[in-house]
Amino acid sequence: MKIKNICCIGAGYVGGPTMTVIAQKNPHIVVNVVDMNADKIRAWNSQNLDDLPVYEPGLSKVVNEARGRNLFFSTSIDKHIDEADMIFMSVNTPTKTSGEGMGYAADLKYIEACAKQIAKVSKSDKIIVEKSTVPVRTSEKIKEILSLYNNEVNFQILSNPEFLAEGTAMRDLETPDRVIIGGDNTAEGKMAIECLAKIYSAWVPKENILTTNLWSSELSKLTANAFLAQRISSINSLSELCEETGADIEEVSMAIGMDKRIGSSFLKTSVGFGGSCFQKDILNLVYIARSLGLENVSNYWEQILIINRHQRNRFSKKIINCIKENNLSNKILMLGWAFKKDTNDSRESASIYVADKLIKNKIKIDVYDPRVLESQIIFDLSEINKDFEPNMINFVNDPIIDISGYNVIGIMTEWDEFKSYNWNEIFDKIKKPAYVFDGRNILEKNEMKNIGFNYIGIGRG
Ligand code: NAD
Ligand code: UGA
Repeated sequence: MKIKNICCIGAGYVGGPTMTVIAQKNPHIVVNVVDMNADKIRAWNSQNLDDLPVYEPGLSKVVNEARGRNLFFSTSIDKHIDEADMIFMSVNTPTKTSGEGMGYAADLKYIEACAKQIAKVSKSDKIIVEKSTVPVRTSEKIKEILSLYNNEVNFQILSNPEFLAEGTAMRDLETPDRVIIGGDNTAEGKMAIECLAKIYSAWVPKENILTTNLWSSELSKLTANAFLAQRISSINSLSELCEETGADIEEVSMAIGMDKRIGSSFLKTSVGFGGSCFQKDILNLVYIARSLGLENVSNYWEQILIINRHQRNRFSKKIINCIKENNLSNKILMLGWAFKKDTNDSRESASIYVADKLIKNKIKIDVYDPRVLESQIIFDLSEINKDFEPNMINFVNDPIIDISGYNVIGIMTEWDEFKSYNWNEIFDKIKKPAYVFDGRNILEKNEMKNIGFNYIGIGRG
């Protein structure tokens, strides 16, 4: 079977960039990315490339190359499902907020809705690809739905989880460490795997394309995220120990990471990891283990989230205590809202939790982020506090221009822009005594102290 037409359901942070690269590398395949959110599709089709709904370095250039050639964004979901030989499901799989498994299990309602829609619309055989992160054995559920609503056509299900990280999505997609394709161990299953492998082999070396059974593929994605988050919580837990002992976490992290068996990536201490996936995927893993009666296994993984919450709370408390104990003005300039640099995504960002704690302690917040919109910040805070009012936070467009009213600056995201500020000049203008709470350890501790700031990093004594 030769794939000529792809449909991807879900034009979000994964569907958009992933399909853009697939279309760029396979100009002979028509790729339609569909979404029920008409505003998002309008933004993907915007002539002004600054208005794309996802900000990723390098993305707009590739969208510009492929869009209108063989890459299309549309709300005509049924039409493009019907035309496609291969359909990616790239919809959100958030944590359930009600019903069985509430607060832990993944909510598969969007996946189930896609499966139903595909079944109802399809008139020809199709390969269905799970791109979303799903609990192990979700493919079974998809198969059941497809055959319940349509037993006329043949559906092959593949699992092809995505490992891109936001902010580096284009690089991750161009040169992935590996592409995993899980499928059935039948002749049709193998053929479907081959079809998808062929699409990736347009730019990914064969040895980096790993084929597995469906459930291994599904579980590998959840556990890869859990391993990554585990390293961050491990280093973050040690940051508190450093503060108590006078060790410096940056030095400890370097010393640990130089051991090749351990490796240096994902050992950067922070105010806590954010993003839409680490927390939800670990909660999901905890839920799966717990529902299988594996209490020790679930407790083990849950600890990652407990440390992450603790780290955010610790950081918030330090700011609150500092303001109270030193009689500083009840105001902070927060630099950064995105959960990491180079993205406009703020889902589960540590900034939200820290800001919420500060607001509840009557500290006024002025916030600046180069990419996150004011409306998003207001949405984020309203989501965790029903009493939140938009006037409790103030969004600034140029943080430095009017810095004389603050004693305290909090760095929440590691945007390069913040590193490159002229901190000497800021010190000249800022209210004294001046405190910098560096939630990302992006500034040089000694340099900041030499300038005259009271510098409070994470795990730096
Ligand atoms: P997202 O919220 O940015 O995008 C999902 C999109 O799906 C939304 O635009 C929504 O409108 C659309 N959608 C939902 N149901 C639909 C339906 N029935 N028909 C049409 N459109 C529908 O989510 P995301 O960040 O792209 O994540 C998608 C999946 O990929 C999740 O399972 C996530 O865990 C996984 N993932 C995300 C990342 C990441 O960096 N964000 C990385 C790897 C994997
Ligand atoms: C993460 C994984 O890295 C991707 O492989 C995966 O595909 C994705 O989740 C997903 O499934 O959604 P992402 O969340 O986009 O990607 O970004 P990361 O670079 O992993 O950062 C996550 C959070 O951890 C950020 O808040 C970041 O600042 C924090 N972090 C990261 C640290 O605090 N320390 C580190 O050393 C690394």
